[in-house]
This record gives sequence, structure tokens and C-alpha cells, in this order.
Amino acid sequence: MSKYNITFADIGATVSVPRGTRIVEVAEKVGASIPFGCKENDCGECLVEVLQGVDNLSTPSALEIELLKQKFAKPGCRLACQAMVQGDVTLKPA
Ligand code: FES
Repeated sequence: MSKYNITFADIGATVSVPRGTRIVEVAEKVGASIPFGCKENDCGECLVEVLQGVDNLSTPSALEIELLKQKFAKPGCRLACQAMVQGDVTLKPA
């Protein structure tokens, strides 16, 4: 299975993960400072700014897009509990 790097810019950590891994699955393990609430696309707490590789994340669902709009998220922001890795990405809490 293909592996890709998630770099958490806030703590300077890079983790190699299998394709399809959700950011939430590794963020807490490595001590990234992304806040999580519901982990179910409901609260928007886990908003992250993707600094590199935004196209290397899964396509956002209609529900994620709606919540991003409600949170006035800038372009390039995603929900860490929803986005799945499909290539190398670098991100930080928004
Ligand atoms: S933790 Fe609530 S939307 Fe991601």
C-alpha cells in the first residue's frame, strides 16, 4: 500500500501513513495542536490550513463543504476529522 507524509507544521513533525488515513488518526498521537471536538463533521473545531498539497487530500463531502462555509474557512482549509491523505501534505491549525 502506498504511504504518504503528513507534516504537522505547528510541531515540526512528519509522519508516514497509508493512503486513506484521516488526519485525525495521527494528529493526536504525534501531539499536534489541532483541537478536536466531535470528530464527526459537526463542530468545525478541527479546522486546519493546508500549507502544501491541498489537492492530495480526499474531495470534501457536501457536509464538510457546508461546515467549512459556516466557519468562514479560507480556501485551502479542511476539517482534520474528515480529510483523508492521498499524497504528501503539510498543514497547521487554522
Ligand atoms: S472535530 Fe468536529 S468537525 Fe472535526
